[in-house]
Amino acid sequence: MPEYQKFEHDVLVIGAGGAGLRAAIEASAAGVTVGLVCKSLLGKAHTVMAEGGIAAALGTVNSADNWKVHFADTMRGGQYLNVWRMAEIHAKEAPTCVRELEAWGAVFDRTPEGDILQRNFGGHRYPRLAHVGDRTGLEMIRTLQDHGVHQGIDVHMECTILSLLKDADRVVGAFGYDRQRGRFLLFHARAVVLATGGVGRAYKITSNSWEYTGDGHALAYNAGADLMDMEFVQFHPTGMIWPPSVAGILVTEGVRGEGGVLRNSKGRRFMFDDIPEAYRHQTADNEEEGWKYCQGDKQARRPPELLTRDHVARCIVREIKEGRGGPHGGVFLDISWIKEKIPNAPDHIKKKLPSMYHQFKQLADVDITTTPMEVGPTMHYIMGGIRVHPETQMSTVPGLFAAGECGCGLHGANRLGGNSLSDLLVFGKRAGKFAAAFAKEHPAGSINTDQVDSIARRALEPFERGTRSTDTQGPYQIQHELQAKMQELVGIVRTEPEMLMALEEIGKFQKRAREVAVHGNREYNSGWHTALDLPNLLTVSEAITRSARERRESRGGHFREDYPNKDKAFGEFNVIVRRGPAAEMKVVRENIPPLPAELKQIIEEQQK
Ligand code: FUM
Repeated sequence: MPEYQKFEHDVLVIGAGGAGLRAAIEASAAGVTVGLVCKSLLGKAHTVMAEGGIAAALGTVNSADNWKVHFADTMRGGQYLNVWRMAEIHAKEAPTCVRELEAWGAVFDRTPEGDILQRNFGGHRYPRLAHVGDRTGLEMIRTLQDHGVHQGIDVHMECTILSLLKDADRVVGAFGYDRQRGRFLLFHARAVVLATGGVGRAYKITSNSWEYTGDGHALAYNAGADLMDMEFVQFHPTGMIWPPSVAGILVTEGVRGEGGVLRNSKGRRFMFDDIPEAYRHQTADNEEEGWKYCQGDKQARRPPELLTRDHVARCIVREIKEGRGGPHGGVFLDISWIKEKIPNAPDHIKKKLPSMYHQFKQLADVDITTTPMEVGPTMHYIMGGIRVHPETQMSTVPGLFAAGECGCGLHGANRLGGNSLSDLLVFGKRAGKFAAAFAKEHPAGSINTDQVDSIARRALEPFERGTRSTDTQGPYQIQHELQAKMQELVGIVRTEPEMLMALEEIGKFQKRAREVAVHGNREYNSGWHTALDLPNLLTVSEAITRSARERRESRGGHFREDYPNKDKAFGEFNVIVRRGPAAEMKVVRENIPPLPAELKQIIEEQQK
């Protein structure tokens, strides 16, 4: 029988990015004991990749901003598939959460009057992103970590969770292993919060680092929770593309917020060529007006580079496909041009975008104060995730909560930049609060040791196969091939035949993953870690593909060449994925509850 070390916490938070840290802080403040599990070292989280800012209607730069405008922008950006109650809560609570972060020591950039400075971002009507240069996510993690360490939270670093544990219907803990030594760990908890982030490693070109293998999505799905909106994958329009070793690394939307423009190889600002009807009245139709907007002119309309990410990414793909791309297959993002407009432009760029300056200088030998950057879309975020109750963040499984990217509902078909950071503050806080309340109201459940033993045995099987097999392909090869297939067949543009092909390939990868062999021992064995990540990557890949087949229209982050238009009938429901009785993946449609009259009115007013 495999051995394990046992820990007891009232609330176990799995994932230590912004959502996990915020949930842990809130649960701990409610007086329960909290364990915080992170897959890598504390502080290393995809949260830092939300560089440009936190969206919250503080109204410090334009006092016309308020929660209603933010709510309407979020709903329109999400093409009205959002869980409207989450969009309402988010818009109302984000300003308080940002002020709270400020009170805990976050060093935001300032207006001349000394208030929090806010910048422009795609799809936001007013300058709304509270920021710290282009390192906002990093500052947020630093602040939450500094605050959290004084709360008495037990941190379990470099630990991967393999399965949630259940007592009848309810989640009562989790089982995993420590990545350094390979020892098994059992966490007994009254409530569990999943805050594991995204699924980026299912794709070849991504801004996500190695940790993001859809763990929370798969853990919840395997425990019987619903996943929702999995077809909606966000390709951030601007990732690095050259040199190949850095392809996918994020180039913040803050560059465009500060006046950066997109051009094709002919020098044309192609974003002016395709402005969606819903945004026409708010979008500049000439370069001068767009620049004035970036300079804070309240009468001016925003430049087309600040349209929503789904649209900008598709325009970039069109330019590249039609032969107007750059030498490495991207388009050009130029911030250096502002030297025509302002004195000391290089210093201004370095001050506003310090990380971008260093990133391009050090990784690509490009000085962005003098030279355009070559960029292309990179898989950045998944709008879909674990279906949660909008008030409490509890999933469809009692005792299991989710927040941040692995949760779902706020963003609908497409997320607005900066709404990720406010999402994880608002709903991380709520998840922590309601998980603590659940823990206080429920006795500790019992752990089924047979279940634990069988998870441990299954986790060790790749070693047993390793002693028998001479297979040299191993888990990396499967992961590599899966990423290439998802990029090619279920990427920015999708078709039915390609998705059918993807499902066939995923089926083959699943078979190979069940037979995968690893060599060596349990200490520091990254091949073993990858073998254990594979089932999660395959589960989320299957969920994305099956959901994308179900949605026979194009909307937000889901574009089908065979159904290129939005279809009103498909705007009535969300696509749900759940595990069937024979462990098969079932896809069902569920109607969106009607929007209350007062919220409908807000949306209509803001469309004018
Ligand atoms: O472009 C960015 O800085 C990313 C922000 C986000 O994803 O919210």
